[in-house]
Amino acid sequence: MLTHEKSTLKVAVVEDCFSAREYRGTNLEYNIIPLTTLTELKEALVTVAPDIIILGENSNPFEVATQLKDKYTLLLAVDEPEIMKWRKAVAVGIRGIVEKPVTYEGIVSALQNTSHETRHIYDNEDNVVYIEEPDTPLPRGAKVRREAPQRITPIEEIRKEIRPAISLVNQEKTGKLVTFYNTKGGVGKTLFSINTAAYIAKLYPSKKVALVDFDLDFGDVANFLGVEPKITALSWQYIPDNDIKNVNIENYLIKHPAGIWILPAPIPPIDEDIFTHNIATKILSTLKKHFDLVVVDLGPTLRDVIVVTLDHADNVFLVSTTNIASLRNVYDLVRIFDGLKVNPDKIKLLLNSFKKNVDLQEIKKYIPYDVPLIVPYIKQIEDLHNNYNLSLNDKRFKVYLEDLAALIVGRKPVERGFFSFLRR
Ligand SMILES: Nc1ncnc2c1ncn2[C@@H]1O[C@H](COP(=O)(O)OP(=O)(O)O)[C@@H](O)[C@H]1O
Ligand SMILES: [Mg+2]
Repeated sequence: MLTHEKSTLKVAVVEDCFSAREYRGTNLEYNIIPLTTLTELKEALVTVAPDIIILGENSNPFEVATQLKDKYTLLLAVDEPEIMKWRKAVAVGIRGIVEKPVTYEGIVSALQNTSHETRHIYDNEDNVVYIEEPDTPLPRGAKVRREAPQRITPIEEIRKEIRPAISLVNQEKTGKLVTFYNTKGGVGKTLFSINTAAYIAKLYPSKKVALVDFDLDFGDVANFLGVEPKITALSWQYIPDNDIKNVNIENYLIKHPAGIWILPAPIPPIDEDIFTHNIATKILSTLKKHFDLVVVDLGPTLRDVIVVTLDHADNVFLVSTTNIASLRNVYDLVRIFDGLKVNPDKIKLLLNSFKKNVDLQEIKKYIPYDVPLIVPYIKQIEDLHNNYNLSLNDKRFKVYLEDLAALIVGRKPVERGFFSFLRR
């Protein structure tokens, strides 16, 4: 391998030479490699030894990507960034798309997954270096040079983003999967899903936590957490079942600052011909291998996706308020779960918005599950949740989240090393 200068990022551009002027900027060393055959391209790449590869739209990028994704970090250069192009690109192993003209900061934001929000982030012509075919004069604009503006992202930082697409493969964990469910809506499933995932991620920063929104009709997790659902559970249909080991799972999730990886629900309406139980199975079985904890938020239905989730779950928390309608649904679920052969030991009843005048013994007469957690109505969390804020910092609510986290991981959070329990 050739060594490269530390101060520049070495970029191989798979494009025709006419596109050269679309690539510019300091900190970068571009090497244009026109696409002839794949074999020749691979040989040229060995010689160039780039930090990253940018594929042009006209150079068969999706086919080329499938050949290169395991070895290189890839970006797709486009004239017009569009969500569909982005989806197709990440589905074949490309890390992101970068809008032309390509600049250093464009590459940075594409690698950091922010390119859609930060269009034209670096548009200063004064700092532009045009690359041309050898011996052609530089365009006029490039000769006018003033003091370069302050560089926003240091090159060392961007190097951290560059890693082989397969970095996560072969980490075979057996993570724990927990889900919150009831065929009644408005009982707190989403409140507990989001806050439990974020709370456990906060308690154990070294552990990987995924939050999946399988409420196919009213899924709101992405909105709630303020992420654009560029990737949804439906995007997983593009991962070939027999190639899942070679796919960078991180490309099929959205990273959230709360320290969790989110898989938003598909955009409704979704029917089962499109989002099949095979896709749901692929998602859950794969995530369990890559994450220490997978939290699944479910909708108030009995769709296929629910059955698949119940099957993969280590703990099913049936969330119910103490009103008759909500308890009645749980009561019906007892028989349904029995019919579905769901192991009753993994089902827990989480009584939420509990009212003091409710007779717990009476409830237990009809519902045979453990009741390990009873949470009162807390006005503050209702306000927080309804304004799309996490509730995990609310003093009162935190006590219950702590108990819930302890239940999920198996012991009291004050003790050390108990998280290993997650890897059964
Ligand atoms: N313990 C609680 N105290 C106060 N409000 C709660 C509590 N649990 C849930 N809520 C409120 O109930 C409503 C429904 O919660 P949500 O999690 O969206 O339910 P689901 O996902 O089951 O439909 C939200 O407004 C939420 O803030
Ligand atoms: Mg919900």
